[in-house]
Amino acid sequence: MTVLEVIQRSTEFLKNKGVDSPRLQTELLLAHLLNMPRMKLYLNFVRKLSETELDNFRELIKRRGQREPLQHIVGSTCFCGLELAVDRQVLIPRPETELLAEQGWTLLNSLNTQNSALSALDLGTGSGCLAIALAVHCPAAQILATDISGEALDLARKNAARHNVLDRIDFLQGDGFAALDSPKLFDLIISNPPYIPTADIQSLQIEVRDHDPRQALDGGPDGLAFHRRIAAEAAPFLKPGGKIMLEFGDGQAPAIRKIFESQKWIVEAVIDDYTQRPRILNAHG
Ligand SMILES: C[S@@+](CC[C@H](N)C(=O)[O-])C[C@H]1O[C@@H](n2cnc3c(N)ncnc32)[C@H](O)[C@@H]1O
Repeated sequence: MTVLEVIQRSTEFLKNKGVDSPRLQTELLLAHLLNMPRMKLYLNFVRKLSETELDNFRELIKRRGQREPLQHIVGSTCFCGLELAVDRQVLIPRPETELLAEQGWTLLNSLNTQNSALSALDLGTGSGCLAIALAVHCPAAQILATDISGEALDLARKNAARHNVLDRIDFLQGDGFAALDSPKLFDLIISNPPYIPTADIQSLQIEVRDHDPRQALDGGPDGLAFHRRIAAEAAPFLKPGGKIMLEFGDGQAPAIRKIFESQKWIVEAVIDDYTQRPRILNAHG
């Protein structure tokens, strides 16, 4: 079978299994298998696949047809241009979180570093995506990254090492601010907390519901349990002038604003994602 025939058949198979963008998913998997950029497939439409290649590809397509995320099958994803390993222990980083990372490193790079080292706390680091992007884009910053999951932290450490920033990120396990082993002050507290209301989890896309870790998704009855804790507990951990930047879900902006304003935070900005939906809170004391 040729590359083109394999693409056509597999696209049809994934479409029948309810997979979004079946042609793109097929091409990405085939490019991964053949170890070539996706666009190069187009120059190889008439190339015949060997029996071994076909057997291996059938296995990949079968997994994707069972709604395993592409990123788990290939073992990695791209976040802010950085390749990060991902598996079932961590949330697959999402494109909207790249905006949060960019807000974070822009803030850190704008601060005057003459008096003290720049510091940021990433609560619920998962794959380490936010902490690593901050460290890569702000070479003067020292980051503390926490998670309740030890398995997530193991992967985050490996990702940090891969991007040569392990020496500037401390990884600590624990529940929210309780992970901090000693009192510390930060220029920035950044977090993409779990924010799906518990009752909504069962209706999520299968790839998310069955493959992202439950504790990365479940934000309690209204999805905002973790945000409430941050609003109530963050103040003693910020330097004077320090900021909080948080991601939240579509439709949660009014509730988030209320939560933070009722705890005397000043909401400086609520920032939209790529689809013009408000998704990031920017607040200070
Ligand atoms: C939505 S995921 C975000 C992961 C990563 N920061 C990202 O943006 O892709 C939330 C993360 O918070 C962690 N988490 C959940 N509850 C926590 C808690 N009580 N304390 C610390 N981390 C927690 C989860 O294990 C998960 O890694």
